[in-house]
Amino acid sequence: MKEFIDLLNERQSCRKYLNKPVEKEKLVKCIEAARLAPSACNSQPWHFVVVNNKELVPKVSECLQDAVMNKFTTECPAFIIVVEESGNLTSRAGALIKQQDYRSVDIGIATEHICLAATEQNLGTCILGWFNEKELKKLLNINKLKRIRLVVAVGYPENDNIRKKVRKNIDEILTFIE
Ligand SMILES: Cc1cc2nc3c(=O)[nH]c(=O)nc-3n(C[C@H](O)[C@H](O)[C@H](O)COP(=O)(O)O)c2cc1C
Repeated sequence: MKEFIDLLNERQSCRKYLNKPVEKEKLVKCIEAARLAPSACNSQPWHFVVVNNKELVPKVSECLQDAVMNKFTTECPAFIIVVEESGNLTSRAGALIKQQDYRSVDIGIATEHICLAATEQNLGTCILGWFNEKELKKLLNINKLKRIRLVVAVGYPENDNIRKKVRKNIDEILTFIE
């Protein structure tokens, strides 16, 4: 069994994919992992649209290639679109009282669950926050008033080299009070 820390190291943004479809069961397993994610007041303010349809995938990719960004998605066989839902009354009240954006926090956590579940199944992912939201909503028939917060590109990586993570040192990010 893989150590959790190894899974975290293996998860990396994949920007080169094999020309190989992703099995539906593997994508559903990623959503199952997202379903188990924690959220403020257990509000679960999300909906996931999975696209692995051969005709639709290139059209989704077009919406992701805004300006010079995300050209690599032309090669990607599947996408998971993360739509923000309104959440429950308690989480909405909490967000208002505490002036915290719990829904974005929740969506970030669920999205990482997706990525880790994909990694565990030998899939590559890349979280995308830069896309033409208006066009993507139109393409996928998503209500204009809703927000698409993230898109996850999913596919089989072209190679399995694990890059060294570029991260701040632990002393830069940690205050440990004993
Ligand atoms: C909220 C968010 C938005 C991101 N948007 C993009 C994007 O639009 N295009 C892209 O290529 N990578 C995007 N990334 C990936 C980051 O660039 C990447 O996670 C970071 O550089 C760390 O590298 P790693 O994922 O390989 O560890 C995004 C990541 C996050 C968490």
